[in-house]
Amino acid sequence: MRIVVVGSANDTAKVALDSIKETLKKKPNSVICFPTGSSPLPLYNAMVEDYKKKKTSYKDVITFNLDEYKGLGSKHNQSYRYFMDVNLFNNIDINPDNINFPNGVLKDLKGECARYHKLLEENHRDIQILGIGSNGHIGFNEPGTPFDSTTHVVSLSASTIRDNSRFFTSIKEVPKQAITMGLSEIIDSDKIILIATGINKAKAVRDCVKGPIDESCPASILQKHDNVLLILDKDAASLL
Ligand code: GLP
Repeated sequence: MRIVVVGSANDTAKVALDSIKETLKKKPNSVICFPTGSSPLPLYNAMVEDYKKKKTSYKDVITFNLDEYKGLGSKHNQSYRYFMDVNLFNNIDINPDNINFPNGVLKDLKGECARYHKLLEENHRDIQILGIGSNGHIGFNEPGTPFDSTTHVVSLSASTIRDNSRFFTSIKEVPKQAITMGLSEIIDSDKIILIATGINKAKAVRDCVKGPIDESCPASILQKHDNVLLILDKDAASLL
């Protein structure tokens, strides 16, 4: 793993953007899988600014997203699709036909998982971008998720519901379930960039980097991959 420690959350953006642009230069039709959450927000802001100023084009890029809440449609302001539209997709030249997202409002969620898994199999990722949960989850793969898991429906842990309730008006509004890419699909990417900031990520980052490779810390699976870039602020790196 290559670990870069930067001074602040905003400084994570430049390191991540440089790495993305390096890949895009070689392959303008790269397949990129994105996360949501506060960690990648500085990167998305930087991508939009860079697109406007330097005209880096995403028109041939194919995108996937890691996860989506069950029951929240694309127009719901807490859905992950809405987050991506508002913070990134609507502000760069991405072709809407190239955006792939799990659909959490379908009745047949099992069928939806199978559809998404097939698409992922057909579109090997060049870049997988990740955040990390305070309990070491990636995507919505909670501790104990098998390393060989594929896209599936999950019940969120109490700590994840609590962590994510900060985006909702009350904890009762946080969906209890979600669709997430599985761990075997997440590591099926040429390059993985994980961004973590803040002191509440320090333990998860330590377990991810230095702990045993064990399903009790889903992010520890990254130790098996040979091209991982970890971008941390000082707080997130403080237990390394
Ligand atoms: C959610 C998402 C994850 C994300 C995590 C951390 O649970 N499903 O993909 O990495 O939260 O979010 P944040 O970056 O806001 O701390």
